[in-house]
Amino acid sequence: MSSVIGPVAKKILIVTGGSRGIGAAACLAGARQGFAVCVNYRFQKAAAEQVATAIRDTGGEAIAVAADIGSEEHVMRLFATVDEQLGKVTALVNNAGVLDLQSRVEDLDAARLERIFRINVIGPFLCAREAVRRMSTHRGGPGGAIVNVSSLAARLGSPGEYVDYAASKGALDTMTIGLAKEVAAEGIRVNGVRPGFVYTDIHASGGEPQRVDRVKERVPMGRGGQPEEVAQAILWLLSEAAPFCTGAILDVAGGM
Ligand SMILES: NC(=O)c1ccc[n+]([C@@H]2O[C@H](COP(=O)([O-])OP(=O)(O)OC[C@H]3O[C@@H](n4cnc5c(N)ncnc54)[C@H](OP(=O)(O)O)[C@@H]3O)[C@@H](O)[C@H]2O)c1
Repeated sequence: MSSVIGPVAKKILIVTGGSRGIGAAACLAGARQGFAVCVNYRFQKAAAEQVATAIRDTGGEAIAVAADIGSEEHVMRLFATVDEQLGKVTALVNNAGVLDLQSRVEDLDAARLERIFRINVIGPFLCAREAVRRMSTHRGGPGGAIVNVSSLAARLGSPGEYVDYAASKGALDTMTIGLAKEVAAEGIRVNGVRPGFVYTDIHASGGEPQRVDRVKERVPMGRGGQPEEVAQAILWLLSEAAPFCTGAILDVAGGM
């Protein structure tokens, strides 16, 4: 029997919203695990380039690509750019997500609801579609893994803050379960993480930059989380250490 080992297949990771927060931590952790990384961003080019440069400076491969994941045209262009510059994606982190100012449901308008659901639900669906088209063994692909970044809000509902955001993450959880079953026999695993209160910029867009410090007493561990702690869970679910794990949604929330 030959003991020759063939070339190791290239691992290619797309992280949507990779310029800041949890996404940036996932890009850096992915590079440490040997992925070539596409750092997607919407507006903050300098921040995305900084993440990509940090990866290249430590000998990794990375590109930063602008695309609004709420736009089908942009998503198509994002995946085509990765095809050309890195190769076909083998791992996707649907991380980009938004919330709006803290508000009650009785004060929400259709434009806000449309934006939240377009970016938090339709965007991940479109990215998952493009990933499955490239990964599925039924289409000649090598298989792959997808992780959806949901939120503990899907379980808690976020009353008085952003029920719309919480509901969008509930939809994402249902997509995780359904898509996982749909592509389980095609070499693709689909899982989710539900972060709790994590120190990132997202709370400023809700109008309360210091929100984690206000609510952290409610966390059984008594503290907020760091983006890197969520990234570790994401990378584990993407990795070969989780080969029988699909359709799972892992709370990363300090016991909440
Ligand atoms: N932080 C928390 O406490 C927490 C808790 C539960 C769940 N989450 C979830 O974790 C994920 C990451 O959150 P975060 O706290 O790290 O957020 P963040 O610090 O606000 O960063 C958001 C990232 O998403 C990108 N982005 C936003 N809209 C986009 C769009 N339409 N297309 C492409 N990229 C877009 C941003 O790009 P630019 O830099 O270009 O703007 C940025 O890279 C989100 O899905 C969020 O819902 C966060």
